[in-house]
Amino acid sequence: METVNREQVTAGQAVYSKFTLAIYDALVLGFSCRWLWRCDASLMLEQYDHLASDNHLDVGVGSGYFPDRCYFSSLKPRIALMDLNESSLAYTAKRIARFEPETYQRNVLEDMSVEGQPGFDSVGLNFLLHCVPGSMEYKAAIFRNCLTVMNPGAVLFGATILGQGVEPNRGARKLMAFYNRKGVFSNQQDSAAALEAQLKKYFCNVKVTVEGCVALFSAEKARA
Ligand SMILES: C[S@@+](CC[C@H](N)C(=O)[O-])C[C@H]1O[C@@H](n2cnc3c(N)ncnc32)[C@H](O)[C@@H]1O
Repeated sequence: METVNREQVTAGQAVYSKFTLAIYDALVLGFSCRWLWRCDASLMLEQYDHLASDNHLDVGVGSGYFPDRCYFSSLKPRIALMDLNESSLAYTAKRIARFEPETYQRNVLEDMSVEGQPGFDSVGLNFLLHCVPGSMEYKAAIFRNCLTVMNPGAVLFGATILGQGVEPNRGARKLMAFYNRKGVFSNQQDSAAALEAQLKKYFCNVKVTVEGCVALFSAEKARA
């Protein structure tokens, strides 16, 4: 089994500070999504609107753009936030304070335990997988951990930037290489096929579509 060290895991979340989170929406979800990864953030929001339930866990929260902008059908959904980085958690919790979110500081490769009622009906994983180190098989520890906090029939969905099987433009190629050197991204081995294969090991109704350099995915926890 491959080895991933703590420094690699730390590097995947270290860049998110109060300062970078303040410019994240414009820089990452605005500029980079549209012009470099060629997948408009509105597509990710559409998926979020469609699949997030009123009993929802957001994992790898960043600036909290998606839970903030999402249309939840209840005025008072149960929202839980999970991230390794304290700044991401604090920034997002403040942004969606109206929902009184639960917060959990976790390295989700290792532990996704929650207090009280564990079962969620949906889990969002937007732009997390390309930040965590290792092969897709290694990253699938996150899928197994998600299963432990999902109700039967619950949906897992998200998006991730791929490093294999896509055709990045010049700017995207340069930025992806830079981020991989710095450990901000670890996606050089990530392909849509590898993502789909790992999801299929643990979930049913797996769907993976590729838009530009981004794989959008969804899957369900079996009911039986
Ligand atoms: C690129 S941001 C994604 C933000 C948001 N979901 C979005 O789509 O805009 C990645 C987030 O994943 C978190 N993260 C990275 N590695 C993690 C790990 N091993 N465990 C938990 N969170 C992690 C980072 O701290 C950061 O908040």
